[in-house]
Amino acid sequence: MNETTTWNIDIQTALIEWFDRSARTLPWRSYSNPYAIWLSEVILQQTRVAQGRAYWEKFMTEFPTLQSLAEAPSEKVMGLWAGLGYYSRARNLHATAKIIAELGDFPNNAKDLQSLPGIGPYTAAAIASIAFKQVIPALDGNAFRVYTRLFALADCIDLPSTQKIIAHKSLPLLDPLRPGDSNQAIMDLGAQICTPTQPKCIDCPLAFACEAFRRGTQTDFPMKKSKKVAKQVSMTLHVIMRKDKIAVIKRPSKGIWGDLWCFPEELPETIPVIEGLRKRHLLTHLDLDVHFPESHAPSLWIEPQWEWVDPNVLQHRAIPVPIRWWLEEKNYI
Ligand code: ADE
Ligand code: SF4
Repeated sequence: MNETTTWNIDIQTALIEWFDRSARTLPWRSYSNPYAIWLSEVILQQTRVAQGRAYWEKFMTEFPTLQSLAEAPSEKVMGLWAGLGYYSRARNLHATAKIIAELGDFPNNAKDLQSLPGIGPYTAAAIASIAFKQVIPALDGNAFRVYTRLFALADCIDLPSTQKIIAHKSLPLLDPLRPGDSNQAIMDLGAQICTPTQPKCIDCPLAFACEAFRRGTQTDFPMKKSKKVAKQVSMTLHVIMRKDKIAVIKRPSKGIWGDLWCFPEELPETIPVIEGLRKRHLLTHLDLDVHFPESHAPSLWIEPQWEWVDPNVLQHRAIPVPIRWWLEEKNYI
């Protein structure tokens, strides 16, 4: 037995012992029949345990078997679901009951389960592991949080490749004889101990193996693609009038507003300037605070790069958005 295996078995054991000692007592956990388990998993897809529990009990009382659910009129199924929300779950539940009743046997593995209406990869893995002891991790947001912390996995959780890594690394942590309980232990850990903002690592059975806990970086996980904050930059665009013409300059091809006609950023001579309009302009990576100071150039002023144009026709050139905005503010458009 190599070290990794011993390590994984220690985690398996810690999880299962914690489950036996501390996991929640939930009514469906005393059932081994796949119908009862499937029903609980569908209800818990978008509903908290506290609310879902009563609905599971209502359904089990009204429809104790898959056959009875399959044969029920749809109004009755929908009526019983009322108040739980996400009603497509109820429609899919009924459709799937009919399909399985027709099949005769409850599909007993995640792959087949996933082909049924309303059963995605997570629900399929949960049912297959709990009802049929298939050794497959059930990975939802809670499980991803627990596992990314346990492994201190820094990859972005939204990537399918990251989810594959987690599926691969979590598989040997499931007890091969009780994979459903291992999965449910992770669900309960995620709900009660390894919570999003304040994980109770002191009470966690996996603390001895948790890399994020060792580093003190628990809440850094799961990692999301970092949203870059737009850089705040102040920009000055000089509005320089020479008689009734305005100075424009064609911007270099590289950089912001490449090749567009713009007001000059520099004022080469010291001439009086008055404060003009000001506009915030957001670009993908820049949060621009654009100032438009105004000045009057001496009548013979020439700058090699500048062109003096009639502001009324400037709108017909290729110009940046803030220039168009300025022209509109000043009633040139
Ligand atoms: N959430 C989804 N399935 C669950 C289960 N079997 N136990 C606890 N929480 C769950
Ligand atoms: Fe989560 Fe803390 Fe447990 Fe690590 S030790 S799995 S961070 S609760």
